[in-house]
Amino acid sequence: MKISGTGVALPQLRVTNDMIAQYVDTSDEWISSRTGIKERPMISTESLIDLGAKAAKDAIAKAGLAPTDIDLFICSNVVNSYVTPSLACIIQGEIGATCPCFDINNACAGFMTAMDMADGYISSGKYKNILVVCAEEPSRIVDWKSRDACILFGDAASAAVLTAGDSLKTMKFSTKSMPDVLYYRRKLEYNPFLKKEEFNKPLQMNGRDVFKTAVSFSSADIKEVVEATGWKMEDVDMFVLHQANLRIIEAIRQRLDLPDEKVPHNVERMGNTSSACIPILLNELIEAGKIKKGDKLVFSAFGAGFSSAACTYVWE
Ligand code: ACO
Repeated sequence: MKISGTGVALPQLRVTNDMIAQYVDTSDEWISSRTGIKERPMISTESLIDLGAKAAKDAIAKAGLAPTDIDLFICSNVVNSYVTPSLACIIQGEIGATCPCFDINNACAGFMTAMDMADGYISSGKYKNILVVCAEEPSRIVDWKSRDACILFGDAASAAVLTAGDSLKTMKFSTKSMPDVLYYRRKLEYNPFLKKEEFNKPLQMNGRDVFKTAVSFSSADIKEVVEATGWKMEDVDMFVLHQANLRIIEAIRQRLDLPDEKVPHNVERMGNTSSACIPILLNELIEAGKIKKGDKLVFSAFGAGFSSAACTYVWE
């Protein structure tokens, strides 16, 4: 499997830390020093469907394909206004694709989960050109009356077209059931027979536990896939990590003793856009000419679940 094209679509509004401080008791100084985040894109006038469609068209065009060439479309999404049908199904109509579609929800690890699935489908010969769209609007599930989590996230869509190739080397994907550290539960419709009380809560997060788990899972995953590929850590040209928080990225970098320049980040400008993070960062690196053919890359993503994935990848 290889990535043949990437695409990104961002909302126009940039929300700075000072803008958030108008709604909750926080400051630019606190957010910058604890998370590295200065501003993030946020949906205001756009719809997530339009952003997803725009990112998809961008990735398909860069892969040199037409929407009708796509054999399978997987959309990674945590929340949107449709519970059913799938967001992929709606975006399919917007872009003029005709292939089978479905959504996955694996939070921040969604893109890498889709990569793993796509690799299986492509290797089996079942599908040739797979579109993955990561369309996320976490701003719609956080509590805007509490400073705990709303400072962390950004809204965005990103996409990648995955086709046959020999780029993906080793993939590790794991889940440990830890729902209490990070979850969002919505109240379901009334059922006249229901005897249990149900509740609706915005995103709940135990920041410290998420922090510790993210650092230990990601650094262990990275070591494991690098070794399983037969590489040494110093052979790797770039580590493309989930952009949750600059302090998490920095802690992983220090734990693995990686040079600063091999661990790029854009969380300062993007916040945490959940599964959309990795393709956004990849797209930026490609556009800036920072990734060359033959470069050895590692991707690592982690998030609610707790789900964690890492892979080794040689750029074609
Ligand atoms: N502004 C100002 N003060 C705040 C804020 C805020 N936004 N949030 C918390 N505080 C206060 C707390 O109330 C506390 O005050 P106290 O000392 O008077 O009690 C103090 O700051 C320290 O709070 P901590 O929670 O200990 O702060 P910490 O240094 O752990 O930073 C943070 C909190 C940034 C959430 C950190 O734990 C973190 O980054 N965790 C990871 C969370 C994450 O990345 N989630 C993303 C989703 S999952 C994923 O993508 C992996």
